[in-house]
Amino acid sequence: MTYSDIEQRRLFELSKEILNMSSETMAPEELAFDLREVIQYHEWRYYILNDPIISDYEYDQLFKKLESIENQYPSLISPDSPTHRISSDLTNQFSPVAHLAPMLSLGNSYNADDLIDFDGQIRRLNKMDDASPIVYAVEPKFDGGSIALVYEDDVLIRAATRGNGVQGDEITPNIKTLQTIPLRAKFSKYGIKKVELRGEALIRKDFFSKINEQRLAKGLSLFANPRNTATGGLRTKDPQDTASRSIEAFIYHLSYAETFDGSRYRHNKDSHFDIIDMIGALGFKVPNEQRKRCENIQQVIEFCNYWQEQRESYPYEIDGMVVKVDSLELQEKSGSTSHHPRWAIAFKFKAKQATTTLIDVEYQVGKIGSITPVAKVEPVQLAGVTVSSISLHNQDFITGKDIRLGDKVLIERAGDVIPYIVKSLPDLRNGGESEIQFPATCPVCATLLIRKGGEAAWRCPNYQCDAQVLQRLIHHVSKDAMNIDGFGKAYLERFYELGWVKNMADIYRLNYDQIAQLEGFGQKSADNLEAAIAKAKQNPIRRLLYSLSIHHLGKRVATILATEIEHVLDLKDWDLDRFTTIKDVGPVVAENIIEYFSDQSNIQLLVEMEDLGVNMHQLESDRPKVIQADAPFVNKSILFTGSLQTMGRKEAQRLAEEAGARNISAVSSKLDVLVVGENPGSKLKKAEALGTVKVLTEQEFLTEIGK
Ligand code: IVH
Repeated sequence: MTYSDIEQRRLFELSKEILNMSSETMAPEELAFDLREVIQYHEWRYYILNDPIISDYEYDQLFKKLESIENQYPSLISPDSPTHRISSDLTNQFSPVAHLAPMLSLGNSYNADDLIDFDGQIRRLNKMDDASPIVYAVEPKFDGGSIALVYEDDVLIRAATRGNGVQGDEITPNIKTLQTIPLRAKFSKYGIKKVELRGEALIRKDFFSKINEQRLAKGLSLFANPRNTATGGLRTKDPQDTASRSIEAFIYHLSYAETFDGSRYRHNKDSHFDIIDMIGALGFKVPNEQRKRCENIQQVIEFCNYWQEQRESYPYEIDGMVVKVDSLELQEKSGSTSHHPRWAIAFKFKAKQATTTLIDVEYQVGKIGSITPVAKVEPVQLAGVTVSSISLHNQDFITGKDIRLGDKVLIERAGDVIPYIVKSLPDLRNGGESEIQFPATCPVCATLLIRKGGEAAWRCPNYQCDAQVLQRLIHHVSKDAMNIDGFGKAYLERFYELGWVKNMADIYRLNYDQIAQLEGFGQKSADNLEAAIAKAKQNPIRRLLYSLSIHHLGKRVATILATEIEHVLDLKDWDLDRFTTIKDVGPVVAENIIEYFSDQSNIQLLVEMEDLGVNMHQLESDRPKVIQADAPFVNKSILFTGSLQTMGRKEAQRLAEEAGARNISAVSSKLDVLVVGENPGSKLKKAEALGTVKVLTEQEFLTEIGK
């Protein structure tokens, strides 16, 4: 089956409409009909095209809605309902084989309440009261392709994909190329003759990046994501291709085991967790520290929440946790529906991706006049927050991704990172979309925009542009600059509008009595502001230098310059030669500083600020710590890798610098010392291969610097 563009657009709109319905406004018959249609469409995008256009979360919401209608009105259940069918990834390129036990799906949960309900349901099913303990085994929910492996007489005889749950595609030759799957394993030691294991094939995130780097170098098309690369790799006709993708397999379930007399195998302990231990001991890859035996549902909730936070740091893609009743006996008593076991549930992490519509583009003017296009989108839930506005960075970003007004766009937010637009969805266009017209003039002061060669941004060249002035003021008071506590954007905008603050000097001549009278202020906040500003006047000059919004003058250059001058105005006598004698100060930033200090109005401003009490002299804290010639790491380059146990990375780097070292970021022949924390990874291997790098443990490093 395929869908026309018009159909796709209609089904997408319909999905969004159903998802946004706060209360059911449609007749149940109609809603059930629509839900079946859209769910079928999204399954097609997911399983057949491998290119979903809504998030898993949104799909699950649709699925749940349909389930709940069907529960409420059983007469509406139709034999073709997606709730009664296990979706299939069968292709006709391989021979189908029957699984020894059906491969079911999992029910989903999204929060603590859902997990508590799950626990309650297990109790009801098994007539257990609240006081009876239930132990759970919790594991990562791997986001790859599921596989089933059959061993007989200790030999791998067959491997298959999940297929429709009853039958899968036979992919034995491909699976045999995976290093993490033993071709032989001593099941006989446990009296097992024939066994079926379930697991997930997936690719480490960093290996995936490497594969794509190599493909790029070879001029091949790039893979979309680790998941598709793994599932695609299982299904290629060429086992060599499978082997080249660094696919690994984790085992998470024993679905069938038969002893030598043909009876069912029973493990000596009534525990799923112990079975996984046994499988691990037989040489299979199983999750270790990410797997936990939890004594009650509260512990399950804590563990799930912990991994929701840690998700990005895990080397493999996981989209949730799987919570399983640990007792095999209780599992059996709880049973299964046609769709999923009742003794297990997936706890899904908050979705990182969503789709929405681009409504409008606004243009923001930065402190040095850079124009940033910002997409206004229909608000959507993404990883737990509502997103309505997303940076489009610059004009090239828009044209490169062919993003148009009215487009459906796929957005993503990974970890704490701000949301970004992954791509537009041209399949869903209806012809009503229009090109984004980047403005030729500044949206605030109407000056003609300029774009310098080599720069990505268009800029407003008018230094007095209201937007720029205000942005510079906001930067001046910000945390990394003058750090004026409690003086944020909102205050500045208000004072700017009132005409009280037109330039930096005005900040230091505010009338606090007047401020106290202002609506929403009062004496207390005026006093707090006065104290914060008084404190900022005593700042070291590196903060002041950074606060001036000189293009390219970042915190590092500010810190270096502050050590070289007695007074801020000394810089007005510096020429290019004087600047370039300082290491780490390049000609571009030097030119910008010279330009700033040759402008009389800037000098005037600084003089006024000094008269108002702002410190312009180098302070003790501006001067660098003197490094003794015999410090342990003088003239040595150093790099930290792995997770450090007694200090953070920044702290370690600071200590190294105090001991004379220079921090660098990569392993190369220029590296002298590598300090390794836990799980050091590839940097250590590289350093060892070089043979010229001194490798220290964290403890040895601390000893060397005398801590
Ligand atoms: S247990 C009867 N455990 O999630 C046992 N499944 O949505 C059911 N999955 O098809 C599966 N990690 O591919 C289980 N630790 C884990 C899992 C896991 C990933 C996948 C599996 C399954 C899907 C269900």
